[in-house]
Amino acid sequence: MKVYLGIDVGTTGIKALAVDALGKVVGSFSHPLSLLAPYPAWAEQDPESWWEGVLTLLRAVPKELRVERIGLSGQMHTLVPLDKNGRVLRNAILWCDQRTAVECEAATQKLGGEEKVIGLTGNPIYPGFTLPKVLWLRNREPDVYGKMATCLIAKDFIAYRLTGELGSDHSDASGSAMYDVVGRKWSVSLLDALKIDPKLLPPLQASFEVRGRLRRELAQELAWDEAEVVAGGADNAVSALGVGVCQEGDCMISIGTSGTVVGIAKGGTLPDKSGKLHFFNHAAPDVSYYMGVMLSAASSLNWFKDKMGRDFSWAQVERGIAETRIGADGLLWLPYLQGERTPHRDPNARGVLFGLSTMTDEMRVFRAVMEGITYGLRDSFELLKEQTAIHRVLVVGGGAKNAEWRKMLAGNMKVLVVVPAIDEGGAYGAAMLAAMGGGADLTTVKDWVRESAVTEPDETDYPKYDAVYEQFKALYVSLKPRFDAVAALNAR
Ligand code: XUL
Repeated sequence: MKVYLGIDVGTTGIKALAVDALGKVVGSFSHPLSLLAPYPAWAEQDPESWWEGVLTLLRAVPKELRVERIGLSGQMHTLVPLDKNGRVLRNAILWCDQRTAVECEAATQKLGGEEKVIGLTGNPIYPGFTLPKVLWLRNREPDVYGKMATCLIAKDFIAYRLTGELGSDHSDASGSAMYDVVGRKWSVSLLDALKIDPKLLPPLQASFEVRGRLRRELAQELAWDEAEVVAGGADNAVSALGVGVCQEGDCMISIGTSGTVVGIAKGGTLPDKSGKLHFFNHAAPDVSYYMGVMLSAASSLNWFKDKMGRDFSWAQVERGIAETRIGADGLLWLPYLQGERTPHRDPNARGVLFGLSTMTDEMRVFRAVMEGITYGLRDSFELLKEQTAIHRVLVVGGGAKNAEWRKMLAGNMKVLVVVPAIDEGGAYGAAMLAAMGGGADLTTVKDWVRESAVTEPDETDYPKYDAVYEQFKALYVSLKPRFDAVAALNAR
């Protein structure tokens, strides 16, 4: 059977899906990854571990599935430095790494302030973006910087290993802080001003365009002689494509390791001047999107379960949360284990569990953590509503599987919450890009998307959630000076 293979290079694992021409998933393969965190709020991975994972998955595809084209999706912003022979020079520095506050500040000053930066690229320079990591290498690891011939983003490294071709696409370039989102090109004036050689950056393509053929020896080993690889895109953009979030007013909330709130902007729309929401090009043709990003969404719930809630199954957690009250009897959780991007842009923020009492038990903490993540997503959703009208939300990621969480989202966002029938993250959207056959026409894949569960908001929940949300916001404001003071004590 002829299939399209979508591969997503995530943070906690690599996923591959084999999908037939009608959008049916006929094979699903995954490979776990771990995160290296040598210091608080740093995050690295060895790109070779991604490649080993991808090879394992390619070899696991049964012989009767003949892969015609491969599409890619991957963690955004993550820097992979290569030398002139295409060898990896050091571990990749990830999207959630927060080491570059100094570089962000210095580059913004050098470019004439934040308004100018937004004018050049469409976004401020955030610590997780690719540019400040390049500058950090120049400042802190000059040997590596001196040998660097190419900077790639995660999925582009996999495309390089699959085809031997260097390149990137407009959706991933958008998050590099070295690209002009409105002009759809690398920002040569920014690179000039910061004295970065433009040759470090690869050529750009649309996400559906063909990057190249599978390298001969790999094609022979796998017996996929004619297989092509398409450029692919940033995981949030490709996931949005995979659940049909491509038109103005569509919204996707993804609750994975990160939490993202994506809202599609009509053609010709301009960046968020306040710089609070990201403004990026989509993997779907001719659209852009606004996005708010939390750095520890499901990962903060997983963190609590691993450290203190191991005795409970997820089914018990879901039942337990249903039996606790909104507000968790006075417990609040600030989900900032890795600092926070939207809305605070604060690498110094940290997780806080506030309001412990003798009544506190694990289920109340589970509820508080889930609520804290939801309030963090609501922060982005409120900003998004200032840009575009949203009437319903497609929710994806691990969090979408939990009915209590969907109720909580509906009660906070005050909109219909819809779960897609196929929620496979970037891998499904990547298979769609592969199926588009190198052309921009979405009609071949538009029938792939279907809905499953729908959750109506319960209006009686609104005032209860509104009241706790106000306290959640105020708690961060009152702790902000302490976050900064403690970070200064631990500065590296
Ligand atoms: C988005 C972001 C994360 C990663 C996760 O800006 O940093 O959502 O893309 O892989």
